[in-house]
Amino acid sequence: MTKKGFIFDLDGVIVDTAKYHFLAWKKLANGVGVDFTEIQNEQLKGVSRQKSLEKILEWGNKTLSEEEFTKLMALKNEDYLSYVEHMKEDEILVDVPKVLNYLISKKHPIALGSASKNATAILDKVNLLQKFDAIVDGNGVKKGKPNPEVFLNAAKLLNVNPNECIVFEDAKAGIEAANAANMISIGIGEKSVLSDADYVFKDFTEISLEFIDDIISNKIKKEKTNLSIDK
Ligand code: BG6
Ligand code: MG
Repeated sequence: MTKKGFIFDLDGVIVDTAKYHFLAWKKLANGVGVDFTEIQNEQLKGVSRQKSLEKILEWGNKTLSEEEFTKLMALKNEDYLSYVEHMKEDEILVDVPKVLNYLISKKHPIALGSASKNATAILDKVNLLQKFDAIVDGNGVKKGKPNPEVFLNAAKLLNVNPNECIVFEDAKAGIEAANAANMISIGIGEKSVLSDADYVFKDFTEISLEFIDDIISNKIKKEKTNLSIDK
């Protein structure tokens, strides 16, 4: 049987840090007189810190000096990390360890593919770092999601062909990136948001080990392709 590579996004897939990103961005946006809603937060999922701030300023029709911009990015991260600081194993989303441990028992390599520059620190906090064979995070890519670079780098580190890789993602941009990398894309969240994913589950409690077995044995295949992205 061909070896498969399983790639996990972090925020919103392994841990629910989207709520902390939301609180930190909202404080920052409101501080510069810009409204910030949950709907807008959805559009920032999977998007780098710099791109996120650019979008927020664009929504609020604001321009900042380069110096101010850099200062605000640092402040946002400081605020975000004040939440992360308290994270423990109990913040791992339900049944994520079930799937990770199963894959490890079957000897399929696992990578992290995240836009976050805080990814290693967060995995360490929740005691999952040692389960990953490779980490690709916001420090290791030139082009963020929806560009496939993050997942292609992860496949390379796992030494698995991209078309033998499976990506778990909660962000629309991440699903686009997985599709552009020609990997099976599994959305974690709402079907309405993640309509481009090959398969969508509300969370890992809905993912059975039989489903994982079906992926491993090629019973489950890629449903959708989108190779036209060059962002
Ligand atoms: C992604 C999150 O995983 O990481 C985004 O979904 C976030 O919301 C991005 O902006 C960058 O994260 P960080 O931790 O480097 O600011
Ligand atoms: Mg995410």
